[in-house]
Amino acid sequence: MEVTVLRLGHRVGRDKRLSTHVCLTARAFGAGKVIMDARDPRVEESVKEVVAAWGGGFTVEYAESWKSVIKNFVGVKVHLTMYGLPLDDVAAEIRDAKKPVLAIVGGPKVPSEVYHMVDYNVAVGSQPHSEVAALSLLLDRLNQGEELGLDFKGSLTIIPQACGKKVAGTYRSKSK
Ligand SMILES: C[S@@+](CC[C@H](N)C(=O)[O-])C[C@H]1O[C@@H](n2cnc3c(N)ncnc32)[C@H](O)[C@@H]1O
Repeated sequence: MEVTVLRLGHRVGRDKRLSTHVCLTARAFGAGKVIMDARDPRVEESVKEVVAAWGGGFTVEYAESWKSVIKNFVGVKVHLTMYGLPLDDVAAEIRDAKKPVLAIVGGPKVPSEVYHMVDYNVAVGSQPHSEVAALSLLLDRLNQGEELGLDFKGSLTIIPQACGKKVAGTYRSKSK
């Protein structure tokens, strides 16, 4: 399933680690792109390094107007919020639409307009937690678990071990 993530509320200087984790989670669980509402080269660089080493065609972009991203998106627009409808009540309907999905995650406060601009406000449990957790569960439900078996065809590949670390391939980081 084609999924783009819109990450709202990124605070440059404060949210580098969290937004990087949003991007890495999006990539690992099958989304193709994250669009950020603030330009942060440190996030972009970290994600590029991961993609260069571990593969996939994932990209991070910056949009000056998040409203235009939502307005112009062609497909199903899903805002993750603890106030929304339970994920398991709507996941099948979103999947069955067989359209690209825009998954919107916020930061501390999401502008109220967002709730009215989307097709679904979706809760992953009705308790506050994190954009990373909410996104990972949404992607899992949309991909029905298949995201865990994706082949990223990277320079590096992990050979799963019961104990210890085994990695096949070579990659020399640009930044080291
Ligand atoms: C620090 S939380 C803020 C919680 C927020 N008050 C809300 O509406 O969910 C940041 C982001 O995590 C996501 N999030 C947190 N808890 C969630 C939940 N139970 N269900 C869906 N998304 C959640 C939302 O995208 C939210 O904008």
